[in-house]
Amino acid sequence: MFTQLFTQLSIQLISQKKKMSDLEAMLKVPEVKHFTFDKIPDLTGKVAVVTGGNNGIGYITCRELAKKNAHVFILGRNVEKGQVAVEKIKSETGNQKVEFLKLDLKSLKSVKEFSFVTIRIGIQEEFGVNHVGHFLLTKLLLEKIKASQPARIVNLSSHAHRFATEGGILFDKLNDPSQEASSRYQQSKLANILFTNELNKRYLKGIQVYANSVHPGVVSTDMLNRNDLTIPDIFFEYSISPDDGAITTLYCATSPEIEEKNYRSKYFEPFGNESEKSTYAQDENLAKRLWEYTEDLINEKLPQK
Ligand SMILES: NC(=O)c1ccc[n+]([C@@H]2O[C@H](COP(=O)([O-])OP(=O)(O)OC[C@H]3O[C@@H](n4cnc5c(N)ncnc54)[C@H](OP(=O)(O)O)[C@@H]3O)[C@@H](O)[C@H]2O)c1
Repeated sequence: MFTQLFTQLSIQLISQKKKMSDLEAMLKVPEVKHFTFDKIPDLTGKVAVVTGGNNGIGYITCRELAKKNAHVFILGRNVEKGQVAVEKIKSETGNQKVEFLKLDLKSLKSVKEFSFVTIRIGIQEEFGVNHVGHFLLTKLLLEKIKASQPARIVNLSSHAHRFATEGGILFDKLNDPSQEASSRYQQSKLANILFTNELNKRYLKGIQVYANSVHPGVVSTDMLNRNDLTIPDIFFEYSISPDDGAITTLYCATSPEIEEKNYRSKYFEPFGNESEKSTYAQDENLAKRLWEYTEDLINEKLPQK
């Protein structure tokens, strides 16, 4: 009896230990950085459009792009916060070509008009802002992006995409309020990668527009304070600074390596290292279904005149 209990207990402890070390391995970032800010080339003549640029990872991304002379547009919903970010970046970098454009990713009409007439997407906010808003914005900018070749598109996903629910995306439940916030977040981050894959397939084959997705790391930004995501304590222990959190995005947006190695539809983790996507994130049928679902949704909410 005692032996049995002891064995059971040790199996439990070993498996808990294994789970913990898996998690630690997932959270640990490499000590040697493949990419650093000083490797960002001169960006004179380049235009960067960054959503969420007033805060967190987006802010650092804008600051570093501005340091290298890019013309930076910060897109955000809050004019005051946006203007503060613009002034701060201008004074820190000396680059005066930093502008704020008002855009609420929750509102399709706002995305379409870059104005603030609110038509709610009518779909749960996480998926709406993280996926649908960015899908529409990218499609609306696509001709301009193609005209600016060589160009890059970087979509911020997350390691969380690996934990998406069975089936990947629960299309029938996207408005179901009983779905947990973390599950909605995971699905939206999976959608970011699937969208990037399908975008490459439909529009970017053979042209010099390179679209990739990124897990920035666990980064100490406002996002980690979200109560609804119930983030385990260990994430805080291993979190990296917003400066380090911006490195992988900046790698995808600016490193000459992306073109040299013809990186498309890849998924990168800190600090600019290519990594394997989850099985769902490689599922071509799921990517196609998501694309069609999103287009139908947008056509329904924003009928063509
Ligand atoms: N932090 C992490 O550990 C982590 C890990 C993996 C992936 N990511 C991904 O990295 C990206 C950036 O996250 P972060 O950590 O930098 O978060 P953050 O500091 O909370 O910044 C989020 C930004 O998005 C903007 N935003 C939110 N809702 C918006 C809307 N409806 N319209 C326009 N802008 C809106 C916010 O603007 P306001 O200031 O107006 O709210 C803010 O500038 C996200 O896609 C996140 O999923 C982050």
